[in-house]
Amino acid sequence: MKTVVVSIGGSVVLSDEADALFLKKLTTLFKKISNEYKLYVIVGGGNIARRYIQLGRELGFDEDTLDLIGIEVTRVNARIITNLLGISNEEIPHITNEAIKLNFPIIVMGGTDPKHSTDLVGAELAEKTHAVRFVNATNVDGIYDKDPNKYKDAKQLKKVTIDSLIIQYGTTWDAAGKNIFMDEPALEIIKRSKITTYIVNGKRLDQLEKALMGQPFDGTIILV
Ligand code: UTP
Repeated sequence: MKTVVVSIGGSVVLSDEADALFLKKLTTLFKKISNEYKLYVIVGGGNIARRYIQLGRELGFDEDTLDLIGIEVTRVNARIITNLLGISNEEIPHITNEAIKLNFPIIVMGGTDPKHSTDLVGAELAEKTHAVRFVNATNVDGIYDKDPNKYKDAKQLKKVTIDSLIIQYGTTWDAAGKNIFMDEPALEIIKRSKITTYIVNGKRLDQLEKALMGQPFDGTIILV
């Protein structure tokens, strides 16, 4: 069975309002996909992580401590997903080498160590498992030519090369809780291991399903 890795933003799992019905639909989709593919789901920390990080920053905590706080939140979100799935690991692995040893139809995890986000964990898992694709399910519809929150005429890019993203964003980690479509260090892994990567809005389950299945979807394909 081929492998697909999906990184699901924490903001998709839990934004300001808890949405139990959405989470049930999301995990039902993951179970459906697991009939076709071995699935690794990496869960982010989202807004809740950012609020804790903000608090820690105001209290003067150092960057590594802020990252560790973010990691804890990703693992709480991962626990929610794995409990709902019921066919995945009960305990959340702390490193990708632990995750790849597990034998379940779906493997769920959160963050690992400081200085990156769960996007990098997903890219690392995709590299280690030789996944056919890495799907980054985030809270925007794809990558835009400029910030769509600031510019009304921002255009969604259907395809973008990994090299142009690296030129634009670099590959170094900036600060805890930063929220861009994909963390910069993950770009380097995608380039080096040539993982086909899709950016899709994780709230749009019809499009997420297409992306997971490798079918045409509304979002951005990163060309490697
Ligand atoms: P996320 O992966 O949720 O990052 O981790 P994000 O991109 O800011 O948010 P969403 O979920 O995509 O909206 C939250 C924070 O936890 C720390 C980082 O500080 C990150 O910003 N973290 C997470 C790590 O340090 N290492 C990890 O492996 C994962």
